[in-house]
Amino acid sequence: MKKYTRVSLKLITFGLWRISAGLAERVNLDSINCATESIITRDVAVIGGGSSGTYAAIRLRDIGQSVVVVERNDRLGGHTHTYTDPVTKGKIDIGVEIWQDWDIVRNFFSRFKISLTKNEFAPSAVQYVDYRTGQLVSQYSPGNATDALTAYATQLAKYPYLEFGFDLPNPVPTDLLLPFGDFVEKYALDDTVPTIFKYAQGLGNILHQPTLYVMKNFGLVDLKSIQEGFLTTAKHDNSEIYERALAELGDNALLNTSIVATKRSITGYSSITVTTPCGRREIRAKKILLAIPPKLDNLDGFDLDATEKSLFQQFGNSAYYTGVLRYTGINDNTTVQNIGINTTYHLPVLPGIYSISPSVIPGLLNVKYGSPTALADVQVQSDIIASVQRLPNRTISVESPEFAIFASHTPFELTVSSSAIESGFYKRLYAMQGKRSTYYTGAAFHTQDSSLLWRFTEQLLPLIVEK
Ligand SMILES: Cc1cc2nc3c(=O)[nH]c(=O)nc-3n(C[C@H](O)[C@H](O)[C@H](O)COP(=O)(O)OP(=O)(O)OC[C@H]3O[C@@H](n4cnc5c(N)ncnc54)[C@H](O)[C@@H]3O)c2cc1C
Ligand SMILES: *[C@@H]1O[C@H](CO)[C@@H](O)[C@H](O)[C@H]1NC(C)=O
Ligand SMILES: *[C@@H]1O[C@H](CO)[C@@H](O)[C@H](O)[C@H]1NC(C)=O
Ligand SMILES: *[C@@H]1O[C@H](CO)[C@@H](O)[C@H](O)[C@H]1NC(C)=O
Ligand SMILES: *[C@@H]1O[C@H](CO)[C@@H](O)[C@H](O)[C@H]1NC(C)=O
Ligand SMILES: *[C@@H]1O[C@H](CO)[C@@H](O)[C@H](O)[C@H]1NC(C)=O
Repeated sequence: MKKYTRVSLKLITFGLWRISAGLAERVNLDSINCATESIITRDVAVIGGGSSGTYAAIRLRDIGQSVVVVERNDRLGGHTHTYTDPVTKGKIDIGVEIWQDWDIVRNFFSRFKISLTKNEFAPSAVQYVDYRTGQLVSQYSPGNATDALTAYATQLAKYPYLEFGFDLPNPVPTDLLLPFGDFVEKYALDDTVPTIFKYAQGLGNILHQPTLYVMKNFGLVDLKSIQEGFLTTAKHDNSEIYERALAELGDNALLNTSIVATKRSITGYSSITVTTPCGRREIRAKKILLAIPPKLDNLDGFDLDATEKSLFQQFGNSAYYTGVLRYTGINDNTTVQNIGINTTYHLPVLPGIYSISPSVIPGLLNVKYGSPTALADVQVQSDIIASVQRLPNRTISVESPEFAIFASHTPFELTVSSSAIESGFYKRLYAMQGKRSTYYTGAAFHTQDSSLLWRFTEQLLPLIVEK
C-alpha cells in the first residue's frame, strides 16, 4: 500500500505542477541547459514529440529543414513508454510494443543503430475471469477465428484506401458507417470479435464504434503481420529510439514545454509563445506541424479560426490506461483476461481491465485498462486494485497489490459520429492540410499504429517543404 500511495501522490504533484503558471520556479534549473535563444527561428515547429512528431522532426532535418519540437512531457515518445525496474534495471514497455516489418521501420531504427527482432508473444496460459466479480470462467474459450477472419479480410479488401489515411470516397460506403456490432451481424463475423477486440485494444466499446474505426485499427496489414510476424526491439526497450532522437535533436527539442499563444501567418513567420523550464520563449516558424490529439481542450493557446474550431470540437475520444503491478497473486506464467460472463460475445464490461499479463521481470505484471470515456487517474487506479483483490488466488499473496508505474494514454482514439463521417467530416479535415501554414499528422489523421503513421508522415514531408 505504501508504494501505491507514493505513486498517486507523485501523479497528483505532477498534475498540480503542470497546471501551475509558475512553471520555471518548480523545476531544478541546475539540471537544465538554459542556453536556448529567447527567439527561436526555424523552418518548421513540430508540436508534439510522440511517435509522429519525433519521426517528422528527424526526417525534416535529414532533408535540410531546421526544426524545433514542442513537447509538454519530460520525454519524447508519447504512447511509447518504458518502465525501468529499479532493482533489476530490466525494461518493460507499457505503451507501443510492436511495428510492421517494413523498410521504413527498419530504416528508422537502423539510423539510430537499434536492433530489431521478430516479435514473439511470450507463451502464457490464459485464464478468463469476469473482473466484476472475480469469477473464473473455466469453460470459456474464444473459439477458432480463422474462417471468420478470412471473411473479414474479404470485407477489408473493399476499402484499400483505409491503409493510407481517411481519404474516403463520396458517398462514404454505408458499411463503414454501421456500428461494428451491426456489421458483425450482417456478415456473420461473430467469431472475429474476441480477436479484434484484443488487437484493436483501446477503442472502448467496439460494437458501438463505426466500422470505419475498427477497420482502421485492425486492417489487412495487421492480418498479414499476425501471420508473418511483427517487429520489436531486440532489447525490449522501445523508448531507446526516442532517447537517441532526443540526443540528436539537442536544444531543438523543448521538453516540459506548453503553448501559451500562437499567431499564425500565411505569408511570413508564425509566432508561437511557449513556457519552457527556462521561462518564456518565442518561436518563429515558417510552418507548423501539429502532431498532437487535436481536441479543443488540448489546443489551448492556438488561434483557431471558425473552421478549425467547428471540426476539432466534433472529436470524442476513448480512454486507455496501462501500468505495471506487483503483488497481484497471479502466477508469472499466466494471463488473466477479462470477459463478461453474460455479455454479448463475452466482451468485458468497460470501464474495466482488459487483461493482466506477465512481463519479462518475475513478479511484475502488465495491466491494461479501457473506458469509453476519460476517467480520473485515481479512479482507474482504485478500480484496478479492487479488481485484483477480487481474483480467486489472492490468498497466496500476503501483500496488497501495488503499482510500480501507472500511465494514462488518454485521450486515445479520436472519433466522430457516423453522421459526421457520412456528411464529409474527413474531406473537410483533410482540406485543412497546409491551411494557415499548418500541417497535421498523428493518430487522429490516420490510425493508432506507429508504422502506418511514419509512412503517412513521410508522405507529408514534401508538402511541408515545397511551399
Ligand atoms: C498502450 C498502448 C499500446 C500501443 N501499442 C502499439 C503498438 O504496439 N504498435 C503500434 O504501432 N502502435 C501502438 N499503439 C498506438 C500508438 O498510439 C501509435 O503507434 C502512436 O504512438 C501514436 O502516435 P501519435 O504521434 O499520434 O501520438 P503520441 O505518440 O501519443 O504523441 C503525441 C505527443 O504529443 C504530446 N502532446 C499532446 N498534447 C500536447 C500539447 N498540447 N502540447 C505539447 N505536446 C503535446 C504528448 O505528450 C505526446 O508526446 C499503442 C498505444 C497505446 C496507448
Ligand atoms: C522536466 O520536468 C521533470 C520533472 O517533472 C524534471 O525531472 C526534468 O529535469 C525536466 N526536464 C527538462 C528538460 O526540463
Ligand atoms: C481453425 O479452423 C481452421 C479452418 O477451418 C482449421 O484449418 C484449423 O485447423 C482450426 N484450428 C484449430 C486450432 O482448431
Ligand atoms: C491460481 O492457482 C492455481 C493453483 O495454484 C493455478 O493453477 C492457477 O493458474 C492460478 N491462477 C492464476 C490466475 O494465477
Ligand atoms: C506456472 O507457475 C506455477 C508457479 O510457479 C507453476 O506451479 C506451474 O507449473 C506453471 N505452469 C506452467 C504452465 O508453466
Ligand atoms: C450479469 O452478471 C453480472 C455479474 O455477475 C451481474 O451483476 C449482472 O446482474 C448480470 N446481468 C444480467 C443481465 O444477467
